[in-house]
Amino acid sequence: MPSTRLRLGAFGVGRMGQVHLETLARLHQDDVIELAALGDRHPPTLSAALALLDELGSADALRHVERFADADAMAAWGRLDAVVVASRTDDHVRDARAFVRRNVPVFLEKPMASSIQEAAVFCRELDDRGDRLVQLGFQRHYDDAGRAAAAWVRDGRIGPLQQTQHVIQDKNSTPEGYQSAGITADMAIHLVFEAMSFRNFELPATVQALRFLAPHYEDRASEGANVVHVFCTWADGSMAHLGGSRINATGYDNRFSLIGTEGRIDVGDFAGDFGSVSAKLWQGVGPGPGPRGQLIESLVFPMTPPASRHPDFYPRFASAYAGEVREFIARVERGEPFEPGADIGWKTLFVANLAETSSRLGGTRFELAQADGTPITTADQAAAFESVHTT
Ligand SMILES: NC(=O)c1ccc[n+]([C@@H]2O[C@H](COP(=O)([O-])OP(=O)(O)OC[C@H]3O[C@@H](n4cnc5c(N)ncnc54)[C@H](O)[C@@H]3O)[C@@H](O)[C@H]2O)c1
Repeated sequence: MPSTRLRLGAFGVGRMGQVHLETLARLHQDDVIELAALGDRHPPTLSAALALLDELGSADALRHVERFADADAMAAWGRLDAVVVASRTDDHVRDARAFVRRNVPVFLEKPMASSIQEAAVFCRELDDRGDRLVQLGFQRHYDDAGRAAAAWVRDGRIGPLQQTQHVIQDKNSTPEGYQSAGITADMAIHLVFEAMSFRNFELPATVQALRFLAPHYEDRASEGANVVHVFCTWADGSMAHLGGSRINATGYDNRFSLIGTEGRIDVGDFAGDFGSVSAKLWQGVGPGPGPRGQLIESLVFPMTPPASRHPDFYPRFASAYAGEVREFIARVERGEPFEPGADIGWKTLFVANLAETSSRLGGTRFELAQADGTPITTADQAAAFESVHTT
């Protein structure tokens, strides 16, 4: 009897691709999907991914999986229902395009593209199917602690937002051979996503950033910086401060605080290697009737113990990485739109890349609006803004 399981492929199976491959291998072993194809344009990386399947005990997948050296050939093979693409950022659009042209939905790692110009062309090709053909790999959308915070905000527990602070600090420099569009475009884009997620993905009104290269650091991806600070404001007057660095050797550090008129939320006290992830809701803003600064709810979420093969970012987000891929597959199966879709892809890229440019220009403040003062609402308008204001 022919299999009714969805046939999944993975193209781009380096560090991040192998984290997703673990999820796909598990789903294959559990008979939820068929892992049908693996691809990578860099032969040693493809070999390493095949060795991982062996290490994971996925003998059946290893025996049957088709192997490809380019995305076009894998898409032209024509036997996939969906694919996970985690190639280099510079290759995201061309690899994703190979599949979406054949109506194969793509889970695409962040950022959507290298530039907003490239993202705009891709969005035009996707037309009104941006959330039917593409899910972006912003794992924070599937993080339990982040979801608890989102529910508190949605339920009005801290009132309207006034300011938010978001931190990401890597333990180490990027690995050898890693391709980055810059520390903000590559890493702080996670914080752009986070800050915008608490504002219904409305674009900020202003964006500016500063960057620094602190000492005792090997800048392997030639980013020219290892610390970045981004400041965004929104039309409602609220602001966000995003702080990213790659020099926090004591442990991967992910935290955010949301401060509103009625309370405050803190997620992710620094926990070293590896504590748990906290989420705290505070209320009581004084004066009276109740006391100021009461801890109303306090939740704790475990990190995932890593194996030696896992990258630095694995323990904090392992369950979110698995969750986003599982949800992608479930939505393919049910024919439902993806979250986050292409719209969030171009918006986060636009803001992160503007912040990257601002930091390289020493802190230029960009006011995000079209020439006639109306809001930017499409990727084409964002691309037009970028070409006028940054070149
Ligand atoms: N969501 C997250 O938390 C997260 C974390 C890390 C990376 N990412 C994203 O995932 C994507 C892949 O990142 P990664 O960390 O897996 O990078 P990686 O360098 O390990 O692998 C990416 C690709 O680069 C290729 N590659 C590696 N060395 C090469 C070489 N010498 N020549 C040619 N190709 C080579 C690999 O084959 C692979 O396809 C990036 O777009 C990145 O932004 C996301």
